[in-house]
Amino acid sequence: MSALPSVLIRSLGVHTPARRVTNEELSLTVETSDEWIRTRSGIGERRIAAANENPSDMGAKAAAQALERAGLKPTDIDLLIVATMTPDLTFPSTACLLQSKLGLRTDIPCFDISAACSGFIYALQVGTDMLRGGHYRRALIVGAEKLSSVVDWKDRSTCVLFGDAAGAAVIETSDQPNIGVLANLLGADGSNAELLYAVAGGSAKPASAETVAAGEHYLRMNGKEVFKLAVRVMASSCEQVLKEAGVSSDEVACFIPHQANVRIIEAVASQLGVGMERFLLNLECYGNTSAASIPLALEQAWREGHIKHNDLVLLVAFGAGLTWGATLIRWYEPNR
Ligand code: ACO
Repeated sequence: MSALPSVLIRSLGVHTPARRVTNEELSLTVETSDEWIRTRSGIGERRIAAANENPSDMGAKAAAQALERAGLKPTDIDLLIVATMTPDLTFPSTACLLQSKLGLRTDIPCFDISAACSGFIYALQVGTDMLRGGHYRRALIVGAEKLSSVVDWKDRSTCVLFGDAAGAAVIETSDQPNIGVLANLLGADGSNAELLYAVAGGSAKPASAETVAAGEHYLRMNGKEVFKLAVRVMASSCEQVLKEAGVSSDEVACFIPHQANVRIIEAVASQLGVGMERFLLNLECYGNTSAASIPLALEQAWREGHIKHNDLVLLVAFGAGLTWGATLIRWYEPNR
C-alpha cells in the first residue's frame, strides 16, 4: 500500500455548447457522408461553440457545476490546472482567465498544461502530486477545448472528427487509505510531433497574412500513423499501470478511453482482452474533444451509475506530441 496521502475525485462537471452539428449537416459543406464518418470513426455529431464561447467560458461552467455538486465555494479551491491545446489566447494562460471568471482566490497557482488529448490525464497527475506535496488540499482540474477554431472546415479528413466541450474535476486529499488515484503513467515521443500539429501561429512561424492564406494555422494530421501509434500506446499504458498496481484487467469495472475513434478503442479492448461493454463510449454524440474528452466520458459514467464506490476505473488517452497517459482510480462516492 502506498505511503502517499490519498487523492480522490470528489466531483465532476461538464459543459457542452448548445449547437449540434450532425454528419448530414457537414456533408452539405464537404464531400463526405454520415455512413463514411460513422463507419470510419463512430462519430454521429459534435457540439460547436459560439464565436464568443471560449475554453475559459466553457471551463468555468464545467467547474462551477463540479463545485456545486460537491457543495463547495470557489474560494475553497487551492490550485487550478487547465489542460487545453486551444487556449483562449497565446498568453496569459486560460487558467488565469478561468480563475477570474470563477472568482477563485488570488493566492493560488493557476496554470495551463499543453499535452493535447492526454492533457486531462497529465493535469490530473500533476494536481495529484501537488496535493500530495502537502501545500494544497483541493484542486480544480479542467479540460477545455474549442477545436472548431483550429480545424480547417474545408478538410474532410480532419473536420469531421473534432468537437468543442469542457469537463472539470474537483480533487482533494483524503485520510482514507487505498482510495482515489492508485497508479499512473505518463509518456511522450516528440519525434512524432509532425503527425499532428499546426505549422504556424506559434513563435517559430508567427501568424501572417501569408500563413493564414495558406491555412497553416489549421490542425494537420497523418490519421493512419496516429491510429496505429494510438492503439499501441493506449494498450501498453493500460497494461503498465495495471501491472504497477498489481491489478488484472478483469478487476477494472470501467475503462474511460480518450474518445478519438471507436475503432481505436475496439482495437485497444481487443489487445487487452476486455469486452467493449466495460468501455465508456460517447464519441457518437461529441466526437473528439481532446482534453475535455476524458472528463466528459468520466462524468457520464459517474452520472449514469456505471461506476460505484470502490470500483476500479482506468482512464487512458493519447494525443498530439505524441503524448499518452493512463490513471487507475479506486472510485470514491461521497453519497454512497
Ligand atoms: N469523408 C469521405 N471520405 C473521406 C473523408 C471523409 N470525411 N476523409 C477522408 N476520406 C477519404 C480519403 O481521402 C481516402 O480516399 P482515397 O482512398 O481515395 O485516398 C479514403 O477516405 C480513406 O482514407 P483513410 O485515411 O484511409 O481512412 P481511415 O480508415 O484511415 O480513417 C481516420 C481516417 C478516421 C482519420 C483514421 O485514420 C483515424 O481515426 N486516425 C486517428 C486520428 C486520431 O485519433 N486523431 C486524434 C488524435 S488526438 C489529439 O491530440 C487531437
